[in-house]
Amino acid sequence: MKKTLRETLEKNHCKKEIPLYLSTVSGVITTNKNIINFVDKKVKEIDIITTKSYQVTPNLGNREPILCETEMGNFGNSVGLRNPGLEKAIIDVKELKDNNIEAFLNVSVSANTIEDFITLCKAFNNIADSIELNFSCPHASKGFGSSIGCDINIASEYVKEIKNSISDFKSLLFIKLTPNVENIGEIAKACIANGADGIVAINTVGPIVHIDPVSKTPILQNKLGGKGGMSGNWVYQRALECVKEIRENIGDEPILLGMGGVDNGLKARAMVEVGCDAVGIGSAFARVKQPNWSNYLKAIKQEYKTNKIESNKYLIHERQMEYKDMKINSIAYHGNDTIIIELDKNLSCKAGEFAFLWLPGIGEKPFTLSNDEPVTFVIKRRGEFTKALWDLNIGDTVFVRGIYGSELENRVSENALLIAGGTGVAVLPSLCKKLKKEKTKLQILVGTSEVSNKDALLEYALAPMGDFKCVCDDGVVARVLNEIDTIDIDKDINAYLVGPEIFMANAAKKLIDRGFNKENIYLSMEKSTRCGVGMCGECVCGEVLTCQSGTFLKYEYLEEFAPEVIKR
Ligand SMILES: Cc1cc2nc3c(=O)[nH]c(=O)nc-3n(C[C@H](O)[C@H](O)[C@H](O)COP(=O)(O)OP(=O)(O)OC[C@H]3O[C@@H](n4cnc5c(N)ncnc54)[C@H](O)[C@@H]3O)c2cc1C
Ligand SMILES: Cc1cc2nc3c(=O)[nH]c(=O)nc-3n(C[C@H](O)[C@H](O)[C@H](O)COP(=O)(O)O)c2cc1C
Ligand code: FES
Repeated sequence: MKKTLRETLEKNHCKKEIPLYLSTVSGVITTNKNIINFVDKKVKEIDIITTKSYQVTPNLGNREPILCETEMGNFGNSVGLRNPGLEKAIIDVKELKDNNIEAFLNVSVSANTIEDFITLCKAFNNIADSIELNFSCPHASKGFGSSIGCDINIASEYVKEIKNSISDFKSLLFIKLTPNVENIGEIAKACIANGADGIVAINTVGPIVHIDPVSKTPILQNKLGGKGGMSGNWVYQRALECVKEIRENIGDEPILLGMGGVDNGLKARAMVEVGCDAVGIGSAFARVKQPNWSNYLKAIKQEYKTNKIESNKYLIHERQMEYKDMKINSIAYHGNDTIIIELDKNLSCKAGEFAFLWLPGIGEKPFTLSNDEPVTFVIKRRGEFTKALWDLNIGDTVFVRGIYGSELENRVSENALLIAGGTGVAVLPSLCKKLKKEKTKLQILVGTSEVSNKDALLEYALAPMGDFKCVCDDGVVARVLNEIDTIDIDKDINAYLVGPEIFMANAAKKLIDRGFNKENIYLSMEKSTRCGVGMCGECVCGEVLTCQSGTFLKYEYLEEFAPEVIKR
């Protein structure tokens, strides 16, 4: 079915009982090659995979926070079309096709000129099963998406010109429309009349300013005063109205892919009953853990048939993006670029878990808790956000959301070697606590570039935990790793590595060269992490979302699924 969507859908139109076809939606989970591969191979209930909207040139998008949830299941986003640009996207999409992706591949593209849309369509024509033109992004700058999809004449002209510019248009052409108009049906009809094969709806509703109930300030960080599009539960009724109106206007034949707030089989059925050929599941993924995706979607397909709700048990029924306000109790300075900030509240946090720190109007970033009673962070000054943290004073308020990730799952061993570099050391207190509970004897090696301080970072917390040694670089980067040459190797020891990727890769290599058992090595991967709830796909390592699975991954896993991380 997956390769020939149109034929299958046409065939099924004639049947009384139409099966439910499910799709991912642009910008949610299937935003990169790794997660697309995972969904294709392991989440077979997804029939159509939609990519992130690609533009001609790379776009970093907005700084965080890019996503918020002001009430459970009601999301706001201003990702700002973050994407790698055409050159990289085409390599990724070709690779997916070369690897025989099974799902129907719907490549979403975004532009603000006809010429750019044509460039994108020419590049993906023949490779993508369908190309979805995003005419509807509500929070891009003037001239982008929304103005195209909001105006029937501009939308018609764009579709006509784009369709006519390619004589051999092999991919199906879909148009993604905004719900923020009063005549979505007429606009859809005009797009079809000018050559589109199908309509996709709805994109996000709004934008509106999403106010955090605790700080009473806008959450999303952008130049639009915190405005962001709405998705999830609160857009479902509008989505239903829109797809109904679209079907009534475009007639039976064109394909209609409907989405917006669908999180169970009854909502999916209602979408099909008003005219959808396939239903997109987007924001709901933020409420389902990655290992449950397949069962969740199976349950949706089952509910669609039986009308009995079964998917509920896979959904998280609490607001996951709630901020708590905390005051700074103390700030300790370590060398020239690192601070330890202690706050006035507790938050239970285990090895492999982390939280986000938010300063309204400035930004938000993820950090490990080096202590959870009270909440304590070790922060190295890097860019805009960490510089702002550096400037805070005792008594100032910060906002914390989390905990995210999951606790490390390890093989219990009699002895363990812990090696940390940089601010990776922040992970060690919670790790030591866990290992001590397991009655493991610890050898702790901490590398530091700091020579001025007598004590290593967090030495006061770590030294009592085991055989502790701090090694200063003294101009030799990661000098601590030389210690590996002198330690006793016992095949039953576990090794836990924390710090920059290159540091951990070199440490693992040295350990393995010395005969260490690969199976017993764990690395803490701090991948770029933007939403924390499994929606943006950013934090993927191999094929897992580390914001859900936790930061610790086994060496063997990385060797198989993310070899680029450890091959140095
Ligand atoms: C799960 C997790 C836990 C983390 N725990 C800690 C922690 O305990 N202490 C801590 O200091 N940091 C930690 N980080 C990293 C922290 O989030 C970044 O330092 C922060 O995002 C930098 O934000 P910024 O705005 O200051 O810098 P940006 O403006 O975003 O970047 C400035 C410069 O720093 C570089 N940079 C950004 N992020 C990182 C990074 N993660 N590693 C190395 N270089 C980076 C960028 O490439 C850029 O050159 C963690 C990250 C993750 C994902
Ligand atoms: C985090 C996020 C990123 C999105 N990025 C895009 C995008 O790049 N292109 C696009 O056409 N729609 C984008 N959307 C809109 C979705 O594809 C979808 O139309 C909308 O969220 C409604 O479906 P949902 O309620 O099931 O999420 C994004 C939505 C979210 C939540
Ligand atoms: S999916 Fe967004 S950070 Fe993990």
